[in-house]
Amino acid sequence: MSEHALDISLTVNGERVAERVEPRQTLVDFLREELALTGSHVGCEHGVCGACTVRVNGEIVRGCLMLAVQCDGATVETIEGLSDSGELAGLQAAFAERNALQCGYCTPGMIVAAQDLLKRGGVPSRDEIRAHLSGNYCRCTGYHAIVDAVEAVAKQRAGKQ
Ligand code: FES
Ligand code: FES
Repeated sequence: MSEHALDISLTVNGERVAERVEPRQTLVDFLREELALTGSHVGCEHGVCGACTVRVNGEIVRGCLMLAVQCDGATVETIEGLSDSGELAGLQAAFAERNALQCGYCTPGMIVAAQDLLKRGGVPSRDEIRAHLSGNYCRCTGYHAIVDAVEAVAKQRAGKQ
């Protein structure tokens, strides 16, 4: 640890965490390497692919574009916490049922981003789903089944299916 390391404290998936971190460590690296929360993936490390999507203070962010020190005092939620709380159960089941994943590398980020859209309520159009997920790249599925899954859950939650 360098002389520039800083103490941070934050809430991650409902638990208080206090750690000393290097100023240059990204949030996703912090989650994966210091907290062993490896559900958030690292693809491009440049804010392009969305594999590292997590929630900070209720908003989705790219974990590779935020530094851990910027999360001092913040509330961070990862795929692990959101999954354990049951918030993602419908999306997880819909992805599995419709084969909306192959290698699964994009899936945690995709589901966290999809839930961000669905928690606004209503049934988004397929174009709106595609637009919302446009920052989450999938090299396997061709996206069709992903949009199907998200649309199905939106309809289910709205009582239209
Ligand atoms: S790893 Fe963060 S956007 Fe690709
Ligand atoms: S399932 Fe492989 S990248 Fe999306």
